[in-house]
Amino acid sequence: MSERVTAVAPANIALVKYWGMRSEEPLRPWNRSISMTLSRSVSTTTVALLGSGREDEVFLAGETGELRSAPGAFVERVVAQLRRLRQRAGRQEALRVATRNSFPAAAGLASSASGFAALTVAAAELLGLGSSPDLLSTLARDSGSGSAARSVLGGFVEWPGEEEPESPARQLFAATHWELCDLIAIVDERPKAVSSRAGHRAAPSSPLFAARQERLPARLAAVREALRARSLADLGPPTEADAAELHTVALTASPPVVYWRAGTLEVLRAVGELRSRGVSVYWTMDAGPNVHLLCEPAQEEEVAVAIERLSAVRRLIRDRVGTGPRLSEEHLF
Ligand code: DP6
Repeated sequence: MSERVTAVAPANIALVKYWGMRSEEPLRPWNRSISMTLSRSVSTTTVALLGSGREDEVFLAGETGELRSAPGAFVERVVAQLRRLRQRAGRQEALRVATRNSFPAAAGLASSASGFAALTVAAAELLGLGSSPDLLSTLARDSGSGSAARSVLGGFVEWPGEEEPESPARQLFAATHWELCDLIAIVDERPKAVSSRAGHRAAPSSPLFAARQERLPARLAAVREALRARSLADLGPPTEADAAELHTVALTASPPVVYWRAGTLEVLRAVGELRSRGVSVYWTMDAGPNVHLLCEPAQEEEVAVAIERLSAVRRLIRDRVGTGPRLSEEHLF
């Protein structure tokens, strides 16, 4: 076993969203979710053994290799996860962690998903816990970032909730099954004002929460079938409907949670226009103002050109389905 391990783990975009928790500690989702793991939006995390009798150290790594101190709330979440992993492994040594994202953090781009997946994969390897996908998914979920439970797997992934609240996420189809693009239109890079955690807590107070739950079994089945058939025309409508319902539930919760910005609507209107011109592109959004546009590689350029032209769009990240986390020799320290 080496004294230092680096993992690169991707963000994921939910096609059917996890929104609402049955329990916070331990984290149990209210409902099943299905996501696509990305390839370019990644977190890179290095974990090293510091030895016993020391404190854990957590840094953010800059572009040029410098290590900066991390915000206190982030350090606390990371250290809590290190504690869980150490306990599981029966180890005592303090650890040093450095992490870097390839994309803006906390803007609804699932930076916790990729970050806690990378931390879990690297620390599990370093502490000798191994790399079984079921174990990694369970450990990543226990970080409190539910979507991290899906980011330890590549391709198209389903995370059970409801009747199987303990279950890890499982791969439905490998990345090679269908090369789908996710163009992420960034309309606001600032950290979101309301965390996903606060949104999950508020969700069941919405009068529309139960209505969404009733619709989910049919929607999940439609999404699974569209993925199996590689049919964007069948995947797009239930994916858009689910994102719209998540944000409607958020808006009608107490307290109301508003993730959208004016620029969000500009992108959604542009998607409608593209479709009216016969371009097959559909939108979804996680808990933030930025819009994910799903299309196939043949339409990617046309969609990108139309979206980059919008005044509301600060930049466009061209992502695609990806194969999941990997270990790397490019350590951050
Ligand atoms: C809207 O609690 O996993 O993205 O830890 O902030 O990444 P973070 O969020 P998490 O909730 C994710 C909610 C969602 C939908 C989803 O990814 O399923």
